[in-house]
Amino acid sequence: MRKGILAVATAGAVVLGGLAACGKSNNSAGSSGGAGGKAPFVGVILPDSKTSARWEGNDRPYLEKAFQAAGVKYDIENAQGDKNAFQTLADQLITKGVNVLVIVNLDSGTGKAVLDKAKAQGIATIDYDRLTLGGGADFYVSFDNVAVGKLQGQGLVKCLTDMKAAKPKVAELNGSPTDNNATLFAQGYNSVLDPKYSDGTLVKGPNQAVPDWDNAQAGTIFEQMLTANKDIKGVLVANDGMANSVISVLKKNSLNGQVPVTGQDATVQGLQHILDGDQCVTVYKAIKKEADATAALAVALAKGQNPSVNSSVDDPTSKKKVKAELETPVAIYKDNVKDVVADGYVTKADLCTGAYAAKCTAAGIS
Ligand code: BGC
Repeated sequence: MRKGILAVATAGAVVLGGLAACGKSNNSAGSSGGAGGKAPFVGVILPDSKTSARWEGNDRPYLEKAFQAAGVKYDIENAQGDKNAFQTLADQLITKGVNVLVIVNLDSGTGKAVLDKAKAQGIATIDYDRLTLGGGADFYVSFDNVAVGKLQGQGLVKCLTDMKAAKPKVAELNGSPTDNNATLFAQGYNSVLDPKYSDGTLVKGPNQAVPDWDNAQAGTIFEQMLTANKDIKGVLVANDGMANSVISVLKKNSLNGQVPVTGQDATVQGLQHILDGDQCVTVYKAIKKEADATAALAVALAKGQNPSVNSSVDDPTSKKKVKAELETPVAIYKDNVKDVVADGYVTKADLCTGAYAAKCTAAGIS
């Protein structure tokens, strides 16, 4: 025990980046694994860098800062959307001697395979952002993802109401069918939209899932939807990256600003589309909280403690409860874009470039 605690104080943080990372090992977090009283060595696998700007732009730096502040050794990798690479990275992290493994799965099958291997080595496991169905991770850290979807649904309804659209036809572009979050987001927004389809306030249009959250494919799918349904008047899009592709298609058809579009992640691009009036709403998830909670859990788990969390979720595959720390999402419209800047999630320098300087001033971003 003592040795472990001392090692926490002296090991400091080893900053590693990308696939070329080489790990400096400290004494007590050696290669034997196990989460009993060890100096924490946390391995993280992020999913990709293309489906959302958040993973490399927000999650990585916030996780780095959180681990550094906790004095924890860490190694953050990115699978770049490749399920084989994801598994290889996990094997490498296990070999390097991590005693806590944090994953954002690319699908539940490969996610579970990785969690099983880690558990067999006595490594504590955390599902970060996405729940691995049937995976049995020790903890899950995320947002209330049904609430995220509700904010998207309510946002679209608000924007359509503001535009005084009569019986508007709504198209839906869902996230990846292999991501449990996409299921939860859809559950949230459909709980808002379905009653409106039923009572005739809204007309149900085309509805499609976008494989692997592929942003480019979202554009292709939406273009086909619009060709077949020229009367689409609103688009529920599951995240900002896909919303950007939808907005490009709307621009090509001179429909941007007339057809409200939703998103998620409060990316710089998404916020700029909101300032332009081309996107109606995004959902801000304070990823700093998600990263800080993960670092705190990782430290406790490495020390063999049983940390308490604020919630639990049901895993529909294992039918078991998973202990969870869930943060609260916030809807962002033009009038509160400034809150995202004030929170330090995006910088004014990044957001208010060129033509956006004047729009930022008008939106009260100083
Ligand atoms: C995350 C979203 C992200 C999407 C695509 C989801 O699991 O919760 O924030 O936009 O994946 O990467």
